[in-house]
Amino acid sequence: MELKEVVKEKYGEAALRVNAGGSSCCGASTGAAGCCDPITSHLYDAAETGELPEEAVRASLGCGNPTAMAQLNPGETVLDLGSGGGIDVLLSARRVGPSGKAYGLDMTDEMLALARENQSKAGVENVEFLKGEIEDIPLPDNSVDVIISNCVINLSGDKDRVLREAFRVLKPGGRLAVSDVVTRGEVPEEVRRSVLLWIGCIAGALQEDQYSAKLAEQGFEGIDMEATRVYDIEDARTFLSGQGVDVDAIAPQIKGKFMSAFIRARKPASGG
Ligand SMILES: C[S@@+](CC[C@H](N)C(=O)[O-])C[C@H]1O[C@@H](n2cnc3c(N)ncnc32)[C@H](O)[C@@H]1O
Repeated sequence: MELKEVVKEKYGEAALRVNAGGSSCCGASTGAAGCCDPITSHLYDAAETGELPEEAVRASLGCGNPTAMAQLNPGETVLDLGSGGGIDVLLSARRVGPSGKAYGLDMTDEMLALARENQSKAGVENVEFLKGEIEDIPLPDNSVDVIISNCVINLSGDKDRVLREAFRVLKPGGRLAVSDVVTRGEVPEEVRRSVLLWIGCIAGALQEDQYSAKLAEQGFEGIDMEATRVYDIEDARTFLSGQGVDVDAIAPQIKGKFMSAFIRARKPASGG
């Protein structure tokens, strides 16, 4: 099956689980004791989640909290790439206020339906969920102030195209503020694949310096990468053992190398 179809199926099922009263966790949580630990849990504080519909919180499948790290100002237009159940779109909508707008973009019908339901429960009007792919953003050039994303770019098989599209739709001086899984330094390919499978990054995460280089290639400036959560091999022990991986043998090769990062970059004010 094509990668995109696998991703769609996985997140379609996750959305249906939330609709059925369960949690959205899948893939990443395998082998973890609590649901979705340690990647997707405890990303938002109570003040944030308290204001949101319960289903939007249960559908959270990110690996960071981009709106907490991004500067969002009243009146701005925000776009969330791979918006899932809509948690970051709803949080952004509050921050940009009624004179601003928050778009969510997702390719999975079930996620879009869940997000639209969450929008209606939250009673926010300055939000629009769009169907489409992050490799082909259905918005005009120079139309967005801030692009956020939460653990989605790592799922794309064509990250250059995603970053090119992000650059295109950003206004001159517009900001990219995304949470994503990245790796640091060399890791043997097989180990890398097993750990990323545990994290839920089907297509694989980029090494942090590759990520910066790709952003620079598209014309972004002010590129900055900050680790927000470094994954512990112990969290992945059950999953990796189940995959036939000798965890004790590979532990030293993994330590400090898989992490969620917050990535900032800017489109030059001149338009690039
Ligand atoms: C890991 S979930 C994250 C959802 C959301 N950002 C959050 O924090 O809960 C990934 C989401 O991205 C969507 N997605 C993955 N690849 C995509 C693509 N190439 N284009 C559009 N949406 C995509 C999936 O449908 C899913 O809803």
